[in-house]
Formats: sequence, structure tokens, C-alpha cells
Amino acid sequence: MEKSARTMKNLKFYIHTFGCQMNENDSERIAGILSTAGGKISNSLEESDIIIVNTCAVRQKSEEKLYSYLGRLATFKKKKKTTIGVVGCVAQLYGSELLEKKPFIDFVLGPDNYNQISEIIQSNNEEKLNSTSWSRGYNEIPHEMTFRKSNISAYVTIMEGCNNFCSYCVVPFTRGREKCRLMQKIIQEIQCLANKGYKEIQFLGQNVNSYKDPDTGKDFSTLLKEANRVEGIEWIRFVTSNPKSFTKNIAAAMKEAQKVCHQLHLPVQSGSSSVLKRMNRGYTREDYLEKINFLRDLMPNISFSTDIIAGFPGETEEEFQETLSILEEVRFNNIFSFRYSPRPLTIACQEKDTVFFEEKKRRLIEIQDLQKKIQLELNESFIGRVLKVLCSGKSKKTSHLLSGRNEGHQVVNFKSKNDVTGCFVDVRITSGGPYSLHGEAINQLD
Ligand code: SAH
Ligand code: SF4
Ligand code: F3S
Repeated sequence: MEKSARTMKNLKFYIHTFGCQMNENDSERIAGILSTAGGKISNSLEESDIIIVNTCAVRQKSEEKLYSYLGRLATFKKKKKTTIGVVGCVAQLYGSELLEKKPFIDFVLGPDNYNQISEIIQSNNEEKLNSTSWSRGYNEIPHEMTFRKSNISAYVTIMEGCNNFCSYCVVPFTRGREKCRLMQKIIQEIQCLANKGYKEIQFLGQNVNSYKDPDTGKDFSTLLKEANRVEGIEWIRFVTSNPKSFTKNIAAAMKEAQKVCHQLHLPVQSGSSSVLKRMNRGYTREDYLEKINFLRDLMPNISFSTDIIAGFPGETEEEFQETLSILEEVRFNNIFSFRYSPRPLTIACQEKDTVFFEEKKRRLIEIQDLQKKIQLELNESFIGRVLKVLCSGKSKKTSHLLSGRNEGHQVVNFKSKNDVTGCFVDVRITSGGPYSLHGEAINQLD
């Protein structure tokens, strides 16, 4: 049944975001669409007329967190009539099933359908709406609308979706096939960000190195060089790169384009070639190490981070030891490690998993303990050095310190006479913990 349309004007909306940087950026874009339609962004759940939950399906745990949050919203909705929309990867994956199971949800929207969001809210339709169709091309939402959280560093999505079908991963089923954005639009967005005073941009995509301009066919290395020409932007980063498609051309562009940080997130997942094969990653341990060594020869100061999955189905003790040894061999500056989690529709979840929960847990702890030791050693080796840091504001833990990141994307907390938020500052490192560096800003005027 259709009720009379309502207007977004002065409606308050609240967005809760789970998941990766792309979801963060999508939420900024949704906030932009709703604000442009007249809505007012709110920081209070209680005061809002509309609640949007942007979701992540990458691991079972991400889904569980969502269901517990939705439980809160269900109780909340009994007290107050609020429009609740669930968007993002879980919405795409379960669509109408989610609407049936959680009747307090008013609509679900998949990642390719955000341009409909204000229309759906304004239609005030009493029937539940499920919009989870795929689109073939990238859905451009005018970038001027984006309502960004930071005014220093900006996410710029350049492609979405994935064609790789790693055997454990649900993302190809939530984000669909690869869709690339027009290079012209990307460059326009960066120019606009530079005019607003942004210092850093972070390109986003499930697999940035397979980027191809739909108009000209120009690749990711060209995009890096083009972005490098935009005046005002000083640092350029990108995530994520699948090692199998990280080419020498991209490495050369990283070196040539001065603003591209010598920092690379290159998810290895496992140090064992046989596990990598079962994961359908498309490279071996040796291929991976060859790329790392090539990059280190080209850019000796380069900093690496990675993702690791512990306890992939059938992972033997020997295969697990190879993951520990690759951590020792590469000495990553940072890692993100996860216990394997079976995901719907994937090949791996259909296999019998002989690595039991407790064993997965033990392996994950061993990985994290080893990495903590490596990071502490690496970070202590920075003591006495002066690093260029882009200050993002007060430190979350210690409010008398400022915080930022260096070119290698390490967190640096530091003392400073002046508030240098949004500025580049030289910091002398005085101590290093496993997860951050500490220091003092130098060359400051009184
Ligand atoms: N596109 C990126 C990864 C995106 S998902 C790439 O190819 O590297 C982010 C990370 O989540 C992955 O790198 C992987 O380490 C982890 N992950 C994905 N699926 C998982 C699963 N089923 N269980 C545990 N970790 C998983
Ligand atoms: Fe998932 Fe693999 Fe695609 Fe990354 S490359 S999003 S891990 S399927
Ligand atoms: Fe999660 Fe979707 Fe990102 S599954 S990791 S929010 S692409």
C-alpha cells in the first residue's frame, strides 16, 4: 500500500557503518545523497527519524555484530516510529530473507542501488522494499555531494567488485563483478578535494590493480601518474592490491609518481603454496616473495602490510609453519589476521573442515604473538629518526598527544607545542611500541 510521499526536508538521519573503508566511503556518499535531499545528519540514534545500517559479510563475526546491533534497533523501534534501512554487503547477500526474518526493517539496499535511497525514503511506501539488483557499470554519484568525515584525508573509490573468486571469500557475491569508474571523474574528484584543502587521498577498490578506464582503457599505473599531477594533494595511497595482478608497471609508477607513498598493503593470506592454491589466489609463496624483493630493491624504504587467514580448511601444521616463516622473512610493518570463517556460496565452505575451532584459535594467537614481536623490533629501530607525519588530530587514547601517520602508514603519537592538525610535521621518534610510534614534533616556532 502506498502512502502519500514525504519529503526528506529536516528529517534527521543516523548512519552506522560496519566493514571496510569502501563501506566507510559508501556511507559518506549516502550521507551526501540524504543531505542533498534536505535531510540532516544526526549523531544521536534516539533523535533520528531514519536509521541506516551499512553492513559487512566478510566473516561470520561481522554478521553476528550486525545481528546484535539489529536486536537493539528492534527494541528501539517499539518505542519510536523510525524508518530503518539495511544496506551494504549483508543486505545484498540475503535481501528479502532479511526482511522476512527482521520485520522491523523497512528496506534493504545492495551496494549498486544507493542512488535510489532518498527516493525510497521519500516514497513512504508501507510495503517492505528490497533493491539488490546488480549494475554492469560503476554507479556514479556526483562526488560533490559526498559528506566526508575527515577534511584532511579522503577516500576515493575507483572500482568496485571482484572477479577473482578466492575460494573462501564472499565479496564477489556481495559486490558483484568488477566495475571501474571513469578516470575523468576520479581526477575531477581529486581536483575538487585539493581545492578544499585535502592533503591525502586513498584510492579504494576490491582489487585496485585491475583498474581500467572504461573510456580509454588506461590502467592503474596511468591513474597513479595522473593523480600525481593534481596540485595540493601530497600523499596518495591505495587499497587493496591482489598480489597476482600487482605488476612491475604499477611498481614503476609508485616510484615515478612522487606523491605515491612507499607503502603497500599486499594481502598474502598464507605462506604455503599448497594452501594458496586451494584458496585460488593465483600465486605461490615464491611469486609473492619475488614481488616483495623486487619492490624493496626499487624502493628501499617501502613499508608492507598484509592480511592472513589462520586455519584454512585442511591447513596442516607444516602449512601453518610456512605462514609463520613468511612473517619472519618479510617482516611486515603491520598485519590483519583472522580465523578462517566459512562463508555462504563459497567453494571452501562446502569442503569438510578438519581444522577445529580451538586449533584455528591457537594458530591465530601464534601468528599475532610472532607479529607483535616483529613489530616491536621494527618500531624500536625507528627511535632517533625524524619522520614526516600527517597529523589527523588528538590521540584517541592520550588526549594531550596528537596523532597521525607517517608515509609507511604507521600510527605516530607525539607531543607538540602547537595544534598541527591537518598539517605535515617532522616528528623525532623517542620510543616504539608494537602498534605505534611515539615522539616529539620538531622545528616548531614558539
Ligand atoms: N580484496 C582483498 C581482500 C578483501 S577482504 C584481497 O584480495 O586481498 C579482507 C580480508 O578479509 C581478506 O584479505 C582476508 O584476509 C579476510 N577474509 C576474507 N574472507 C575471509 C574468510 N572467509 N575467513 C576469514 N578471513 C577472511
Ligand atoms: Fe575476496 Fe579474493 Fe576478491 Fe579479495 S581478491 S575480494 S579476497 S575474492
Ligand atoms: Fe565487508 Fe563488503 Fe567490505 S563484505 S569487507 S563491507 S566489501
